[in-house]
Amino acid sequence: MKILGIESSCDETAAAIVENGRSIMSNTIRSQIDIHKEYGGVVPEIAARSHIEAILPVIKETLKKASLGWDDIDAIAVTKGPGLVGSLLIGTLVARTLAYVHKKPLYPIHHVQAHVYANFLLPNIPVFPILSLIVSGKHSQLVLFASHEKYQILGETQDDAVGEAFDKVAKIIGLPYPGGPSVAHAALDGDSTKYLLPKAKLQNPYDFSFSGLKTALLRAVQREVGVDITFPSHKLSERLTGSQQNDFAASFQHTAIETLVDKTVKAYGEYKPKSVVIAGGVGANQELRRQLATRIPIKIEYPPIDLCTDNAAMIAAMGYYYAQHHSPTSPFDMVVLPSVSM
Ligand code: KG4
Ligand code: ZN
Repeated sequence: MKILGIESSCDETAAAIVENGRSIMSNTIRSQIDIHKEYGGVVPEIAARSHIEAILPVIKETLKKASLGWDDIDAIAVTKGPGLVGSLLIGTLVARTLAYVHKKPLYPIHHVQAHVYANFLLPNIPVFPILSLIVSGKHSQLVLFASHEKYQILGETQDDAVGEAFDKVAKIIGLPYPGGPSVAHAALDGDSTKYLLPKAKLQNPYDFSFSGLKTALLRAVQREVGVDITFPSHKLSERLTGSQQNDFAASFQHTAIETLVDKTVKAYGEYKPKSVVIAGGVGANQELRRQLATRIPIKIEYPPIDLCTDNAAMIAAMGYYYAQHHSPTSPFDMVVLPSVSM
């Protein structure tokens, strides 16, 4: 079964064709990072307009790269949410129209859950029960999957997602968007023990909170440059040296990543899963991979970086498993769900 996946929830316009939920026939990702860079973050209106320009060429290119025509495609899977409403509307409208015109079954897919399915595109697929750490720009969750359809959310963020915290910290210390990769890069030359930052203590040990950590970092930067809390945060970075920037990046990264790893290790001990998978953009973080390797006794396989961040192959892969258990949605009835939870 060949499924065309379409993803447009944020600032990547993506299409992919995946066979039987396992093998990628083609995978196209058009990133808008360069467009949003000058604003220091994703501008929703611009993102939606860029999706309009990119989406049909991206789908055409994806079919061409796989040497496939519409007759070869068995179904369409598209991100229904969560995400930016304008961006989601473009992807779903295109998917609905194509499903109607080419008479293909249409499957709406949950973006966050789909991140887990990047792991089903690896040569060794995970085995249930699967403990999944889902860490992206909008989500931080620990989820235990008993099967494709049965899962339990062990904990989730109470405020900022971890990727969001990386992005905000990058802004405070003056590193470019997107913050995750730039903080990780600066941290390579920094001293992670230079600034002691707090870890949140929560009633549910599997919940996350990164807002306090981000504020603690802001206060530490203010102290370091000798200003009080009324000083505008966007002007702080002008007063930091390169080595101070690196030390702040390393100290923040160390605490944020150790928090993720502490909770994953605890859940591993309690639930004894057969596989542990990491899903979402923050899964690209090398420090996360290093710490997990030393503290989790089973080998964790990682998708390549372009399958950790937003892509349509994960949408098509989940579409395959979803189609085994659900009827297709009518192209006339499909709605977007910008803040749907898992
Ligand atoms: O999954 P994703 O591409 O989009 C969402 O669904 O949110 O994740 C994007 C997030 C951003 O916050 C970005 O800064 C973060 O993933 N990220 C990283 C790294 N690469 C991307 N965070 C830490 N270290 C990285 N190497
Ligand atoms: Zn994502």
